[in-house]
Amino acid sequence: MTVPEIRRIGVVGLGAMGAGIAQLAIEAGYETIGREVSDELGHAASGRIAHFLQRKVDKERMSADEREAALGRLETTTELGALFDCDLVVEAIVEELDAKLELFAALEGIVRPDAVLATNTSALSVTEIAASVSAPERVVGMHFFNPAPLMPLVEIVRAELSSDDAVDAAFEVGERMGKQPIRCHDTPGFVVNRVLIPLLNDCIRVLDEARVSPEDLDTAMTAGAGWPMGPCTLVDLVGIDVHVHASEALYEKLREPRMAPPPRIVAMRNAGLLGRKSGRGFYAYD
Ligand code: 3HC
Repeated sequence: MTVPEIRRIGVVGLGAMGAGIAQLAIEAGYETIGREVSDELGHAASGRIAHFLQRKVDKERMSADEREAALGRLETTTELGALFDCDLVVEAIVEELDAKLELFAALEGIVRPDAVLATNTSALSVTEIAASVSAPERVVGMHFFNPAPLMPLVEIVRAELSSDDAVDAAFEVGERMGKQPIRCHDTPGFVVNRVLIPLLNDCIRVLDEARVSPEDLDTAMTAGAGWPMGPCTLVDLVGIDVHVHASEALYEKLREPRMAPPPRIVAMRNAGLLGRKSGRGFYAYD
């Protein structure tokens, strides 16, 4: 499969990750179209992107003209069909396999046959997602980290049938976005989450075992292990539901007890304490 030069990027799902990816794309000079299920959600995402770019202008990391030009490259839509002329589509919707399978099958009927389809999944199998299309060689993983505009890494994930061209194209896009891409194969959790998810679960178990407060555990890991933010702050940022889901997905595949989400965090998820996005997790937010 020969991949075209990537000029236009589609992002499906403009939540925290999708909006961050769209921001990176417009800053890197790509024409970008983001798809949300309602105009309100699409406009809210463009508003967040405009806000973060304004902060960069305020801090003199970007000029006002560059901000305007970047925002001029961003379009939002509720119609999946509007992504027809994208060279690369990055999926960042809910972490449910069936929803992703349905989306990829629909995208295949919309985009050109040579367009690359990427998933930002954190814990599902890229190979399983690729199996929903008739040309799985065009499907790769592009796993960004939260917050996507700030975290330098993107994992470029090769599924069983990904073509070299598709993998290389995704890698080059990652580089042009100013990221430090790495290549890896489609194994549960890829690289970072394979290590980070059980580690965060250990941290949550330590809360009860050592009878330490979330504040003190965070201080322990920032002041004692040099983490940029403590584990409770990090899980609140990532989303407690997202963390529980990733843990469950990894546990299902690897059957390692440390992968299983601790009961404490499952109870928090069930109670609607989802972290920053719901206003309450380990900490309360305004
Ligand atoms: N999008 C865009 N810009 C953002 C942003 C966002 N979501 N959040 C913050 N910013 C901008 C803001 O403009 C902010 O400046 P402002 O406060 O003056 O407006 C600017 O970035 C800098 O923010 P901070 O001052 O908070 O930056 P810090 O120097 O404190 O660093 C950090 C923040 C990079 C998030 C750092 O704390 C860090 O590295 N934390 C660890 C994060 C981490 O480990 N992430 C990985 C999670 S795991 C994951 O994502 C995998 C998934 O599959 C589950």
